[in-house]
Amino acid sequence: MTPPRKSIHGSWSSRLAFVLAATGSAVGLGNIWKFPYIAGEHGGGAFVLVYLACIALIGIPIMMAEVMLGRRGRQSPINTMRALAAEANANHAWRWVGWAGVAAGFLILSYYSVIAGWALAYVFRSMAGAFSGATAEGVGSIFIQLTEDPERLLAWHTIFMVMTMIVVARGVKSGLEQAVRFLVPSLFVLLIMLDGYAMASGAFDEGLRFLFTPDFSKIDANGVLIAMGHAFFTLSLGMGAIMVYGSYLPERASIARTSITIALLDTLVALLAGMAIFPLVFSNGLEPGVGPGLIFQTLPIAFGHMTGGVVFGTLFFVLLVFAAWTSAISLIEPAVAWLVENKGVTRVHASVYAGAATWGVGLLTILSFNRWADFHPLSFISIFEKSTIFDLLDYLTANIMLPLGGLAIAIFSAWVMRREDTVQELDMGDGPAYRLWHFLVRYVTPVAVIIVFLNVTGLVDFSHLFRAG
Ligand code: TRP
Repeated sequence: MTPPRKSIHGSWSSRLAFVLAATGSAVGLGNIWKFPYIAGEHGGGAFVLVYLACIALIGIPIMMAEVMLGRRGRQSPINTMRALAAEANANHAWRWVGWAGVAAGFLILSYYSVIAGWALAYVFRSMAGAFSGATAEGVGSIFIQLTEDPERLLAWHTIFMVMTMIVVARGVKSGLEQAVRFLVPSLFVLLIMLDGYAMASGAFDEGLRFLFTPDFSKIDANGVLIAMGHAFFTLSLGMGAIMVYGSYLPERASIARTSITIALLDTLVALLAGMAIFPLVFSNGLEPGVGPGLIFQTLPIAFGHMTGGVVFGTLFFVLLVFAAWTSAISLIEPAVAWLVENKGVTRVHASVYAGAATWGVGLLTILSFNRWADFHPLSFISIFEKSTIFDLLDYLTANIMLPLGGLAIAIFSAWVMRREDTVQELDMGDGPAYRLWHFLVRYVTPVAVIIVFLNVTGLVDFSHLFRAG
């Protein structure tokens, strides 16, 4: 038995605090903004089914693996991977998994913050009554006015980055636990209200059919990769965010139960959001595949017509900002923890450096929605024909870096680490539950990730499996 390490950054006050923080990380723009728009772009039902399968078969086991590695290593992902590789007599190149994660978190936050800025802007639009009585066209033009103006986007992006760095500078613990405790339940209540509205909108059936009736002719290899990438993204996996949160986990809590709870809550939020949005899309004659503006062009119509819409609309966007906020801090925490551990800087300085760098990269995303909207750097590759720099950043991080990070985590946990060490750290005995986890992480995740990649690059073609019958 190896004696447990201690984290120099402190630890959560309880298991519940960890669940809240990890749920805060998982539930964010990915659930409410990204899931509906990518499901819309990839035809609905079949995409949703692939996504759900990835959550169950890859997401939950990888989340357990990340928490386990973090709790055992007790440091930033880079140093955790270094320490655990040494412990397993493995190559110290494993620390590059930590580095790749820091890079992914940094790139994701650079665009995440810009979108969170949209949500901030919408708090004030909503409060000012801009949506009252609005039509689909009216709401659409409010969205275009915002995204066409790089200065406004820059202002909101800056505010959001400052908010994020303030929380990170103070340490993840203070404030965060309280915020999530109130956030997640309120978000549920508001989403259920919106679902109620959608139910009365006349196109609820059509919305549900779109989301839940799989038609595999509507999804291609790239769609499958995007669904898998989103399973990583929405659960904050593959880059060390959950690993670093796991490193602050105090006692021997059930990693399995915790991971399942977080994944279920996260999935529920995404499905509730989809069920609120697609009926509105169809009852207003909109296109499900409009892209990143989808929720900003649909939900305001509902707020504009319901009683108390100003209050509920404002509250909704406030909650969305909070959800993004509790996710954003986890994207940068691995980098900040590493700066504190290895560069001897204070948390405050580390936050300023990491935040300033992320803020700067965010300019690429801001310009992708206006000045550079027609700049498609990889247009010679057919799947990227219409992709802006923002689209490419999103694709690179969510669909390439996170699955590769997840693959490395799976291989490390189930092939490199000693089996008895993982049994000890997961602390659920060596029975069927452990064996199922071990099997999924050892075989299912690596094989799935590799097959999906090969399929997209066209090296192997599995499409006949879908088309059969
Ligand atoms: N999961 C968050 C969301 O759905 C985003 C996020 C936070 C994230 N931390 C992460 C994504 C780490 C990938 C990796 O909005």
